[in-house]
Amino acid sequence: MRIFSSSALLLLLSYIGAVSAAAPIIAQYWPAYSSQTSSQVPYNQLSIAYYFVTVTTSTGFELGGGQSVSEMQSFVAKSKAAGKKPVFSLGGWTGSRYFSALVNTSAKRTKLARDISAFMTKYGFVGVDIDWEYPNSAGIGCNNPTGWDAANYLAFLKVLRSTIGTSNLITAAVSVNGIIGINGSPLASFADFAKYFDYINLMTYDIAGPWSDKTGPTSPLRTCSSDTSVTQAVELWTSRGFPASKILLGIPSYGISFTTKSSTLATTNVAGYSSRIYQSWTGVTPKGAPGDSNAAGTDVCGNKGNGGYSGQWTYKQLISEGLLSSTGTRGLNGYVRYFDECTQVPFLWKSSTRHMIVYDDATSAAAKASFAKSKGLAGVMIFDTTGFDSRVYSAIKSRLGIA
Ligand SMILES: *[C@@H]1O[C@H](CO)[C@@H](O)[C@H](O)[C@H]1NC(C)=O
Repeated sequence: MRIFSSSALLLLLSYIGAVSAAAPIIAQYWPAYSSQTSSQVPYNQLSIAYYFVTVTTSTGFELGGGQSVSEMQSFVAKSKAAGKKPVFSLGGWTGSRYFSALVNTSAKRTKLARDISAFMTKYGFVGVDIDWEYPNSAGIGCNNPTGWDAANYLAFLKVLRSTIGTSNLITAAVSVNGIIGINGSPLASFADFAKYFDYINLMTYDIAGPWSDKTGPTSPLRTCSSDTSVTQAVELWTSRGFPASKILLGIPSYGISFTTKSSTLATTNVAGYSSRIYQSWTGVTPKGAPGDSNAAGTDVCGNKGNGGYSGQWTYKQLISEGLLSSTGTRGLNGYVRYFDECTQVPFLWKSSTRHMIVYDDATSAAAKASFAKSKGLAGVMIFDTTGFDSRVYSAIKSRLGIA
């Protein structure tokens, strides 16, 4: 006896598909050291609320410098009140120094997993984000990679999962270059890691910066004239066995600055597109948003900085400081807005000062969200909560198919 007609069966199958398809995720990092208070975090624009950051120490981890426990508690309470998932992040660029040592023996791995579990319980977090920058690569410079970092990381994740259970989240911020193995190349497969991660936050930004030969976007959609890109990073991860459905695509809410050599923009042909985003520059990073300082500091490795500006602006600051119209479509105050078709990224440029600011906006973020959707990714991750306005969030949500 046929129970279902084929069309009823199709309907049933599509219904099952619809209810089992996970809602797209928007994860955002709250920089607890920034001037944005826990009350100012846009909780209604996210699903996973990352507390950023706790840093590794020789014996475990602690809150990053200057961060208050009461603000962290308020962040957890407000996230939960809004129906969102508060997760704390461990590591970061300056906070990853001791990771290699902390997972170097079985006893140490067990201790770190227990410490994480205790911290989650004490403060009400529903997961942990491992932001190790990076296994088998020194990152800021004074980390002590062992060569066995990737294997130790995997062994640690196994213990961590059995310690905190499956109802809590384990995520990781990861490099566009994958997880590096003992030979200095990406592991042949990342599939074993996928067993323990609920999601990875792909750090698809900082691809160009003050270290680059030419100006260029921090987060290019395609590889046009850079080492990697959003597209290339997703291809690397998925081609090595990591499921697309566990990838959150990183979108930066900040821009970076350059001083071009010339007071006219050269047009070059890259990857079949006519492009003006790649220019020769002086190596001098101009001052970014108000508060950007060129005071030479000493980093956690004891290295004295060169005293240069960061040149960073959030998208919102470009508007509030009068460089960009409120809709984000027009440059102001001598800045002209351009949009690069190849990388799908906008930039502002002022010929009189030769200052170029390359950033992400509603158009570029929408292009990335569309790409994430087309590749079957879990959603997007935004670094960080301070940079975008509701116009950008709406563009991302609509492309991900969130009402
Ligand atoms: C890891 O363990 C090995 C073997 O005991 C040791 O030689 C090395 O110094 C350790 N590395 C770190 C970073 O703790």
